Amino acid sequence: MQADQIKVLFVCLGNICRSPMAEGIFRHLVEQAQLAEHITCDSAGTSCYHIGNLPDWRMRQIADKYGLALTHHARQLRDTDFSNFDYILAMDESNRVNIVRHQAFDPATVERVLLMRSHDDAGSDLNVPDPYYGDIEGFEEVYQILWRTNNRFLQYLVQKHKLATNYSFE
Ligand code: 4NP
Repeated sequence: MQADQIKVLFVCLGNICRSPMAEGIFRHLVEQAQLAEHITCDSAGTSCYHIGNLPDWRMRQIADKYGLALTHHARQLRDTDFSNFDYILAMDESNRVNIVRHQAFDPATVERVLLMRSHDDAGSDLNVPDPYYGDIEGFEEVYQILWRTNNRFLQYLVQKHKLATNYSFE
């Protein structure tokens, strides 16, 4: 990895629904924008519930529908994530609280921890809803939110870090 790479970590509770989808969409957008040598990403869960598992089959079904392959295996947020990543994006407020209560969190780096929807201009709810106990429509809604917000977030990174791309953001 290059030292000047921008590293983004997506975080939810289980790391089997929202954050692996966020990672899959974001990586796809980064590749479309031909920025893969400048931006890398990963995902993690605040819990240990599903360590080692592939994303939930319903999330993979939605990914399939949109031509994305989700191959991430769930892992738990770890101490080194706090020094390795420039941006830590929490899917909802409870994830954000769990992140800033982590033993390795340094309050001096609080500006690195953002809500995923802090760049969303649609709706007033800043949480990506947890789809786990709901039906397939909830997974579709999560995909739509993550597609929109990841476009916004990548656009923000391009402007902030003055990255060159011909990608036209939606
Ligand atoms: P995620 O969804 O945080 O988006 O991966 C969940 C997955 C599993 C559980 C809750 C939410 N669970 O309680 O096992």
